[in-house]
Amino acid sequence: MINTTSYTSESLIIKGGCKLKGKVRISGSKNASLPIIMSTLLTNKPCHIEDVPDLLDVKNSVELLRLLGAEVIQSSTSLAVDASKVNSFIAPDHLVRRMRASVLAMGPLLARFKKAVVAMPGGCSIGIRAIDQHLKVFEKAGAHIKVQHGYIHLELKDIKPVEYTFEVVTVTGTENALMFLSMCEKRSILRNIAIEPEVMDLIEVLRKMGANIQVEGRTAIIRGSSELGGFTHRVIPDRIEAGTFLVAGFMTKGDIELENVRVDHLGSVIEKLKEAGACIEVCGTDRIRVYSKGNSIRPLSISTLEYPGFPTDMQAQFMSMCCLADGWSDITENIFENRFQHVAELKRMGADIHVKGRTAFVRGVEKLTGAEVFSTDLRASASLVLAGLVAEGETIVRDIYHLDRGYERLDEKLRNLGAVVERQTSYE
Ligand code: EPU
Repeated sequence: MINTTSYTSESLIIKGGCKLKGKVRISGSKNASLPIIMSTLLTNKPCHIEDVPDLLDVKNSVELLRLLGAEVIQSSTSLAVDASKVNSFIAPDHLVRRMRASVLAMGPLLARFKKAVVAMPGGCSIGIRAIDQHLKVFEKAGAHIKVQHGYIHLELKDIKPVEYTFEVVTVTGTENALMFLSMCEKRSILRNIAIEPEVMDLIEVLRKMGANIQVEGRTAIIRGSSELGGFTHRVIPDRIEAGTFLVAGFMTKGDIELENVRVDHLGSVIEKLKEAGACIEVCGTDRIRVYSKGNSIRPLSISTLEYPGFPTDMQAQFMSMCCLADGWSDITENIFENRFQHVAELKRMGADIHVKGRTAFVRGVEKLTGAEVFSTDLRASASLVLAGLVAEGETIVRDIYHLDRGYERLDEKLRNLGAVVERQTSYE
């Protein structure tokens, strides 16, 4: 019998050497959209979310909502969700494996229905990524938790108010806790929370739904409501996509303007780009121009940190840039223990990088050369695309599945700026 099963994989083929020129619109934030989509599970009232990017992770989130029984109407950039008929509390293994952010269903389901069954996420390519902090908040609120056959089963009678200090700063952990406690009428206090713009955007939504949340420094005081309402909300622009284009504009010695950005969310990224020699012009609150005067790239010392520090999600892209800097850069990854997988691929393109513990030492080389490279995770893939844009000859970035999880039409946007990039589908 002939085996007709085929496997498709997509690649980007990039011809290096073009200076990017023109304007690009930045999409709504992936990491803000995902928790906001899950927050619709907290209410039986209709919710409208605008400027949601068209990404695989968003499609997966919508699939999960529908599987739980919610009605979702999706247009190109908006979602209308009615979760009044949710009748399942199970986030299945295949979805959690596809998208770790599925764990964000845990808080809303447990708060509204007093039970949730969510596949236990395994480790992932960038690190172990535990969820112990998420569970500790639920446990403190009175939840019974057991892990059976790969699933976390959570059950609760009433939500008790919580006072908890996170042992590590966690973005989705903070988001899960905030959504969950937004249905608790008594006062809860969370300390050492993540204050990433994506967390603040979710807080904005929870307030629109009727929760009273005050944030001071890294402390949140939450007074929720057992009957949360619907909302209409426009998601903040994606600061990581914006950062990636800023690096691309400078690295290619181009001149580009980004529209739909929150300049105030890009502080540490702009600071480092300027240090490297990029010219940055802020045009109002939502546009920014980056260009190069043709000068060489100055080496950098970078250490990733929680917001407002330098984002781990920009580490790989800056490493690509440092590969061509005039001297030695050092890049320390403090958030994830295994987020240097792009190093081996960049080396295939001629980069000179040595990793010692959590620090990568990068000696700038005169040029990178095109090669066949493999995507390992979302931001690593972006760094390879950036390297391809400036490398001599042709670069093939294989398995761009990861890239499509987090960048909306990246190849098309780059082409509009003059890059020579093509998408190729292969059947194996
Ligand atoms: N951690 C724990 N226990 C927990 C939770 C986290 O030890 O209960 C540890 C993790 O293992 C990690 C660190 O704390 O070492 C930070 O993890 P965090 O929970 O903040 O990461 P996350 O919430 O899973 C989000 C983003 C990531 C981004 C990180 C850090 C979403 C959907 N994902 O992940 O985005 O890198 O915060 O800012 O918001 C990406 O977009 O490419 C991406 C990976």
